[in-house]
Amino acid sequence: MASSLLIQNARILLPSGEFFLGDVRTQGGKIVQVGTDLSPDEDSTILDATGLTLLPGAIDPQVHFREPGLEHKEDLSTASRACARGGITSFLEMPNTRPLTTTQATLDDKLRRAAEKSLVNYGFFIGATAQNLPDLREANPACGIKIFMGSMHGDLLVDEETSLEPIFAKGSRLIAVHAEDQARIRDRRLQFANVTDPAIHSTIQDNQAALNATMLALKLSKKYQRRLHILHLSTAEEADLLRQDKPAWVTAEVTPQHLLLNTAAYAEIGSWAQMNPPLRSPHDNEVLWQALLDGVIDFIATDHAPHTLEEKAQAYPNTPSGMPGVETSLALMLTQAVQKRCTVAQVADWMSTAVAKAYKIPHKGAIAPGYDADLVLVDLQTYHPVLREELQTKCGWSPFEGWNLTGWAQVTIVGGEVVYDRGTFNSEVRGQALQFDE
Ligand code: DOR
Repeated sequence: MASSLLIQNARILLPSGEFFLGDVRTQGGKIVQVGTDLSPDEDSTILDATGLTLLPGAIDPQVHFREPGLEHKEDLSTASRACARGGITSFLEMPNTRPLTTTQATLDDKLRRAAEKSLVNYGFFIGATAQNLPDLREANPACGIKIFMGSMHGDLLVDEETSLEPIFAKGSRLIAVHAEDQARIRDRRLQFANVTDPAIHSTIQDNQAALNATMLALKLSKKYQRRLHILHLSTAEEADLLRQDKPAWVTAEVTPQHLLLNTAAYAEIGSWAQMNPPLRSPHDNEVLWQALLDGVIDFIATDHAPHTLEEKAQAYPNTPSGMPGVETSLALMLTQAVQKRCTVAQVADWMSTAVAKAYKIPHKGAIAPGYDADLVLVDLQTYHPVLREELQTKCGWSPFEGWNLTGWAQVTIVGGEVVYDRGTFNSEVRGQALQFDE
């Protein structure tokens, strides 16, 4: 049972979106009091938060943490340390590990590993193949069904409408799609087969490939009124489509990299900029930002997808797609807020409250009595660059190295326990399995 924590003198973000200078008391892993001049209990640990802003801990709803099977890239210990440093107190992890997470047994294995190793709270997707319909309906606890409509990983590819239809038709749990048109990508890959410049990646897996798949997923979701979440929306065309036609049961996310990086990044960081869906144009950046500000896009995910420097040093197309993100996402977005592109309250909504709501994670995403004590104290006054030597991710690099950011997590609290405090980790802390309401 977590002890009592008294956070004093913080600038606290309230559920109303307003700030309040005061104290927060936690007990047994829950927030029990928000007020002023709270006096410490006998067993309270006191945390002086003068000058810092207290936000609900971030929930990253799309990460690839590589365990089991790909631990040379990342594992649940290194990844959850990176989360703690980044202010992320819960994550939802994807099924393209080895073995793939497509059965109750493979899901149970991940839950067991996370219980043993993860410093923050965890939930896992069950991955769709063309053959595992019963697992998709029954595996528990799962935050949702992940469908790779393109950019597949072995059997994790369901790209034919005839195979997608039964998944949408039966059951009610959330379906999250990686929407890229595999047939189009396959054809275009042949057309550009001899090109080794990674910049070609954005041409091969073009905007049309993403739009085609998003249109198909939307069509099926509407036909069956099935809860659909569109992962890492990347194009202006998809954002425009959703602006015109987004049923109440559909949500969408965007990554910080699709907001802040574009195809110009290939010239600077080469294959580190290669991901799926690819980076797009500055125009796409702008349209995605506006869609996020207008509520067409509901929240932020990082798609943290680490690969080693050696893997990334190969020649395209042998370079794997993906970049790490959990350590930098909150600071990147809060820097945008400080620079007036959005507000701090919006960032907290996009990175915590709205995620908890969409995935029906009870008692998370707000600072109020009764909510879980998953919290982050950030410093919105000082700037500090992304430095390679400070990174906790096993891959050891970031596409944002050198970016001067503010809003870095100073103290991260999981279930009322301080897991990260200004450069020091408490490796004894363990997160819990997330619950998902029906
Ligand atoms: O770039 C990506 N890499 N996008 C994905 O959706 C998967 C990922 C990976 O697992 O490497």
